[in-house]
Order: sequence, then C-alpha cells, then structure tokens
Amino acid sequence: MTDSQSELSPELQVQAARKAFEKDIERFVRFGDPSKLDFDLETAETEERAFREIRVRHLGKKSELAASRKLIGRIAPEQRPAFGQLVQSNEDAIIQMADKIESDIKTYIESVRTERESIDVTMPGRRPRAGHRHPITLLRERVEDVFVALGYAIEDDREIETDFYNFDALNIPEHHPARASQDTFYTTEGFALRTQTSTVQIHAMQRRGVPVRMIAPGRVFRRDTPDPTHNPMFFQVEGLCVDRGITMAHLKGTVAEFLRRMFGPETVTRFRPSYFPFTEPSAEFDFSCFKCKGSGCRICKNSGWIELGGSGMVHPNVLRAVGVDPQKYSGFAFGLGIDRMCALMYELDDIRLLFENDVRFLEQFE
Ligand code: FA5
Repeated sequence: MTDSQSELSPELQVQAARKAFEKDIERFVRFGDPSKLDFDLETAETEERAFREIRVRHLGKKSELAASRKLIGRIAPEQRPAFGQLVQSNEDAIIQMADKIESDIKTYIESVRTERESIDVTMPGRRPRAGHRHPITLLRERVEDVFVALGYAIEDDREIETDFYNFDALNIPEHHPARASQDTFYTTEGFALRTQTSTVQIHAMQRRGVPVRMIAPGRVFRRDTPDPTHNPMFFQVEGLCVDRGITMAHLKGTVAEFLRRMFGPETVTRFRPSYFPFTEPSAEFDFSCFKCKGSGCRICKNSGWIELGGSGMVHPNVLRAVGVDPQKYSGFAFGLGIDRMCALMYELDDIRLLFENDVRFLEQFE
C-alpha cells in the first residue's frame, strides 16, 4: 500500500484497491470479445502469463486487498460488520472479474491453437520436390552403360593416394617433369589427392590380376586455377584392358566403338601421337564434332574435331610394377575428362557451372 493510500479512510482504501485492479485489467477485457482480437498463439500466451502476474499482485498475500482485510480489526466494533462486508464483496468482485478474464484468455488460446492445427483438406497438397541427378552423374552412367555392354567391369577406388600409385608405379619416378605438370594437394606426408584415375590401373591389376578389362570413373584433383575449361576438382574415366596379344588395333577399335555408341554411328575417331609416361606408344584421341558432323562450328572451335583424352599401350614398366610379365601380356589404357565432355554435350560455356550448385542450373538436366 502506498503512503498516500494509507492516509485514506479504510473504505476509500478498499475502493482504491479495486480501482487499481480495474485499471490493470483494462487491456485484458478484450479477450471477452475475440472478434476484436487477432493475436497469434505466442502473443496470446504472453498475455496469459502477464495476466497471471497481475492476479497475484492484486489477490496475493502482499496485495492491497490483503492489506484492507487487515484493517477490519482496527475498525470500531459497531462499524466492523459493514466494513467487513465491504471488504468481502470487493474481494468477491475482483476474484470474479479475474476468473472471467482468465477463462476468456484460455478460450481464445484454444481457438487460435485449433485454427493453427486444422487442415484444409480441400487445399492442394505439398508435393515433395524430387531431386535430379547431377549432369556429371548422368554422363558417367551413360559411359558406364557402354562399357558394361562391351564386357568391362567398373572399378571405384580411393581418392587419397600414395606417391607409389599416383606416380612411381605409373612410370613417373621422383624428379620426372610429369610430376610437376600434375602438381596436387598433399595431405599427410606421403599421401596426396590423386591427379588422375590412372592410379586405378595399378589397384585393379593388383586386385584382379590379369587378364583384366575395367573402367574406373572418379574424382581427381590438380592445382589448376579455375577457368572456363579447368577446375581443381574434376572427373575422369580410366579404361584398362590387359590380356595376351592386345594391340593398338584393339585400343582404336574400342575407343571408336565407345564414341559411336555415345555420339552416333557416323562418329569418326582420330588418334594423334602423344606422350604419357605410363603408355608407349601414346596417343591422344579426338572425335568428329557431334554438332556440325565435322564441318566446323562453335563447339569444335571450327576445327570439326573435339579433343577427348589420352591413351596408349600400357608401358612394360607399369606391368612390371604389378608383377605382370610384359613378354606374355600387353594392354591398352585410356583416360578422358568427363567435365569437359559434359560441357560440350550440354553446350555450357564454362565447366565451373557444374559445381556452383545453383539449383536453377542443375534442375534443367534429366
Ligand atoms: C591424363 O590424366 C592421363 N591419365 C590420361 C591417360 C590415361 C593417358 C591412360 C594414357 C592412358 P590428361 O592430363 O591429359 O591425361 O587429362 C585427361 C583429361 O582430363 C583431359 O583431356 C581433360 O579433359 C581433363 N582435364 C585435365 N585437367 C582438367 C581440369 N583442370 N579441369 C577439367 N578437366 C581437366
């Protein structure tokens, strides 16, 4: 009770307590007419908590009402019954108002909760959005289908390699210049992210022995600066066939057949002499442009040909590294980058688009 109120007569003190209560509950009276309210559930629940505090303040042990009850003993005996009645009726009225507001707030909260949880069965449902396979995955699967039909197994191997598999076993000894051109990301000492899928040639021969026929699609990593035709992470597909009597003719026939199945029966393949440490002889291969059929266009940069990958006869040192006798066995290997192939097929100007993860771009491929 404030000092100014304690100076009031007991009757006025009782009235003041009621007035104070009525003032505090003003904003809650609206709950009696929910049509005038548009509180969300969280706001209504905050109001409910606020009202509970007000109730305690006005009806609790330390309330003005409790103080006015104590005044009864100090009233002259002849006035006591009347004053006692006043205090009681006042308290009854306050409790009644508080109960009503509390119940109105509860009803309001219930109705908001029901509305929020109700389901309109006539609304169209939310369809789960189906994902898409990545364009690189689509292309990889096409390549795999062609080679599986030609009797090749599919190898999936590790991306973190030792120097032995990435370089030494592939006839690239330490200090060989080919190490520098395929500089990579080294992890713990002696381990590096593979720079080419050719590492799987070694694993596959160690695992399966010879004869062997396999392709190995997978991620490779190089310290290349990103530009429209380079990424530091890209995909290659390696091919390996080792058996008795395998010649360059088998290599040419296999690559040509693969490209015909990929790009149509009229596709022409050409081989150009090249150098790879792990093949001898080595050749790069191109195929006639699938768009202009060789007459020259934007895709083939007017040359009529599209460069695709490297190949050659497996170097005898590579066979020796896995304990295969090069006098008895021979083989061919090839490797191609599928990111650039993908960019050509879908006419993308920049292979970086493939890994920017822009859904608007990716969802165009089925
Ligand atoms: C090799 O990696 C050899 N291992 C290929 C090989 C296998 C030859 C078996 C002989 C026998 P090369 O470094 O040229 O070769 O890479 C092959 C293909 O990878 C290229 O033709 C190109 O399509 C792709 N490529 C290379 N660097 C990048 C890059 N930074 N971003 C995207 N694609 C790349």
